[in-house]
This record gives sequence, structure tokens and C-alpha cells, in this order.
Amino acid sequence: MPRTSGRDLIQAVRADDTLSAIPVLVLTARTTVGARIDRLDVGADDYVAKPFDAAEFRARVRSLLRIKDYQDTIRAQAEELSRWNRTLNDQVRQQVQQIEGLRAELEAQLREVQASRARVVQAADDARRRFERDLHDGAQQRLVTITLRLRAAKESVPPALGELRAEFDHAVSDLSDALEELREIARGIHPSVLTDGGLRAALKSLAQRAPIRVDLDIGVAGQLPEQVEITAYYVVAEALTNAAKHANASAVTVEVHATEGILHILVRDDGTGGADLTRGTGLVGLKDRVEALGGLILWDSPRGKGTSLRVELPLIAANGDTRAPHPHESDSIHGQET
Ligand SMILES: Nc1ncnc2c1ncn2[C@@H]1O[C@H](COP(=O)(O)OP(=O)(O)O)[C@@H](O)[C@H]1O
Ligand SMILES: [Mg+2]
Repeated sequence: MPRTSGRDLIQAVRADDTLSAIPVLVLTARTTVGARIDRLDVGADDYVAKPFDAAEFRARVRSLLRIKDYQDTIRAQAEELSRWNRTLNDQVRQQVQQIEGLRAELEAQLREVQASRARVVQAADDARRRFERDLHDGAQQRLVTITLRLRAAKESVPPALGELRAEFDHAVSDLSDALEELREIARGIHPSVLTDGGLRAALKSLAQRAPIRVDLDIGVAGQLPEQVEITAYYVVAEALTNAAKHANASAVTVEVHATEGILHILVRDDGTGGADLTRGTGLVGLKDRVEALGGLILWDSPRGKGTSLRVELPLIAANGDTRAPHPHESDSIHGQET
């Protein structure tokens, strides 16, 4: 081994990864404090100055070995901890992945349930629309034809037979009443005015037929997704019927507005309050319909303070019908009265 200075040796030991952990005790003949500090600074753990006492030397070696033991223990524990850390990290990552998988699955199921509710409502609406068409093209047309024939027949009755002519008049008038009743029933099955004239016209016609005063404020024009229009129509129809039937109200206000992809409907009456979904079928039916479209229905009906029904419907229907609404053509119809 070439001659190496003590200082170089210490540096070489510290620079070598395989040796860096071993304790270094310097035996030195140098007596200056500066030289001893220098040995400690370059990496020695301790020094003993020559001449030295053998017992002290052994004590210092033992002390360094103890320190080395502590360091080994600490290093082993640190490794163990970092192993644990890695294991825990892996487990957490796996669980997060599992939870995210479950969440995605749940969301997919929820979307499927939502879509299937919307399909059920859509299928029922389609059936009602067909039924209404059949009534319109069948029974209603026949009644109209019979009325015309009766009128024509009456004209061929000689004026002398006044009683018979009056009988014809009665028959025509009864038929007209029956026809009107049938039209009312057909409207309940499916509001054809909605298909023909859109939500605005349909709400106007509801307001005109209501037995109490209805103030309409409709801030949408043009076509909305079909199921949204039908649902909005039923919401207003039910709320108006309830106001007339249960609330003893004197007036109702109806507001309909579209903002940022949502149709907002607010119907307020000044009646008795106390609407309770568990006591009837109308509000429950509305809730089903609204939720089938991914919408929201809320009501506030304190006793003696009137009832307000608030509904929000996303304008992209749950069945994927994305017909965009006409944006903000807004105007108001006020003071519809009967
Ligand atoms: N606007 C209202 N004002 C006062 N009470 C109401 C109103 N709407 C509903 N109600 C009460 O809540 C119950 C449930 O309403 P609804 O579900 O529409 O049932 P119904 O089929 O009887 O109309 C009604 O029976 C009535 O007692
Ligand atoms: Mg009702």
C-alpha cells in the first residue's frame, strides 16, 4: 500500500459507499488543535492523541461501536418504515382505484335508471298522443259529421212541424255538449295544443280555461325539447287545478323562464296552503315526471300563506333529446281572466 496520509485515508473511506458507515477513530501524533479539528471535519468520528492510554482507547472504541449500533438500528427502522410507506401507498392507490371504479359503475347505473325512467314516461306520452289522435280522428269527427247531418235534416223538416224541429235543435245541442266533453277528455289525455302551438299557446289556453284568475309570465318562445314541454304543461295544469280545487285561491301567477340550460317554472297561489304530496296522486305524479327528466320539484305551502310550486327542468332531456330552446325571446301575458 502506497504511503497515504491519515487525512487522505479518512477522505477515501468516507467517499466509498461500502465503507462510509463504519466508524473512524484517528490515532494521531499531531498535537495542534487545528490539525485535530481538521481530521474531524474531513470525516473522522473521534481521535486519540499519542501517547494514549489503552483503557481510554478501548472505551472510545466501545463508544463508537455503540453509536454505530444505534445508527444501524435507525437505518433498519427507516428502511422498514419506508417499506411500510410504499405498501400503504400501494394499498391506498388500489382502494382509490376500486372506489373510482365503483363510482363510475354507480354513475353508469344511475344514468341507465334515469334514461329508463325517461323512456317509460316517453312511451306513456306516445301512447296518450296516439289515443288522443284516435279520439280526434275517430269519435270526434263522427260526432261532428252527425251534428252536420242533423242540422241538414232539420232544414228538410217543414216549418209546420215545429215540435220536431225543436227536437232536432235539442239533439244538436246535446251533441255539441258531448263533443265539448269529449274534447276536454282528449285534452286531459294529451294536450294537442302543445304539439300544434308549443308551450306558450298551451299555457295560454290552460290559463283561459282556468276557473280563477291566472297571470302568465312566459319568458320562452319557440320549441323546447318535447318531454320538457309536456312536463311543463302538466306541472302548470296540475298546479292550476290544485289552486282551484283545494286552495280556495283567488289568483295564481305562473312564471316560466329559461336560463343556462334550465327551464324554471314557478306557480304561486294565494290560497289556504297545506299542500301535501302524501294525500293525493297529482303531486306524486308530477314528481315522478320531473325527476324522470333529471329535474327538481320543490313546494312551499305554509297554512294560510298560499302555495308556491317550483320546478326546474334541464333543457337537455334525459332521453338525449337535445333540441335547443329558442334563447331569450321574452314577453309576458298578464291578467288572463275568465
Ligand atoms: N295549491 C294547494 N293549496 C292547498 N292545498 C293543496 C294544494 N295543492 C295540493 N293541496 C293538498 O295536497 C294534497 C295533494 O295534492 P295532489 O297530489 O295534487 O292530490 P289531488 O290528486 O288530491 O289533487 C291535496 O289533496 C290537497 O289536500
Ligand atoms: Mg291535484
